[in-house]
Amino acid sequence: MTGRIPLIVANWKTNKKVAEVYDFLQEIQGKLPDPKRVRVGIAAQDIYLHEMVKQSQELDIPVAVISENLHWADEGSYTGETSPAALADIGVSGSIVGHYERRKMFKETNGSVGLKVTAALRNELIPIVAIAEDTTRYNPDDEDMAPLTEIAVGLAGVDKQRAENIVVAYEPAWAIGASETPSLEVIEHSARVIRQSLAILFTQEVADKIRIQYGGSVTPENSKEILGLADIDGLLIGRASLEPAAFLQMVNDA
Ligand code: G3P
Repeated sequence: MTGRIPLIVANWKTNKKVAEVYDFLQEIQGKLPDPKRVRVGIAAQDIYLHEMVKQSQELDIPVAVISENLHWADEGSYTGETSPAALADIGVSGSIVGHYERRKMFKETNGSVGLKVTAALRNELIPIVAIAEDTTRYNPDDEDMAPLTEIAVGLAGVDKQRAENIVVAYEPAWAIGASETPSLEVIEHSARVIRQSLAILFTQEVADKIRIQYGGSVTPENSKEILGLADIDGLLIGRASLEPAAFLQMVNDA
């Protein structure tokens, strides 16, 4: 028993119109598992977040509303950005940081990821830090193993006292938006490498409290076996989270 409550998060990316957002929330009302057993989150475009927070409170839906990105400054002259303080102010619970699509298309770096992770923690938002690095050349049993670069650089500025609130999402680039996932062995190995990297950075005790999600072509057909792996404590789900029935099946299977 690790004490890590699984966290299943829908990443809607740049999908859905406002009416579809309302419909989805109504569809899942009263059908989510007890949050003491499984935590559920939905990451959506910024323009929907405030309304999603209000709706989920009104309909009593135990869902964490999450942003897909955030800025690192709490306020100031940053035209077009969304501040972490504003997200926290409207009741958002967390933010995805450094998703592969942002690293690739919007040139986010481990440096900007680091600034955003500390900005999220400073505002009591849970950062879901996405890692797309190739883990296969790492051996977590090697006592001299160097931590993954995305973790070593991206999380270097994080205070140990706050680090347990981080969630790490392992999303191999080639499995995102694809039709295949890595083998269960590779996912399990990668999660061990990530936890070992976190232990090098923060101590084993802190690393054991951090949740590690898997993301990339998760479906109702494979979600259960992936979640059953040691060191995997949740899922970050793209396409298969867009339909309420499929999403409900995955969260209730968890
Ligand atoms: O963040 C989740 C995502 O990148 C994976 O997308 O559609 O392969 O589940 P998808």
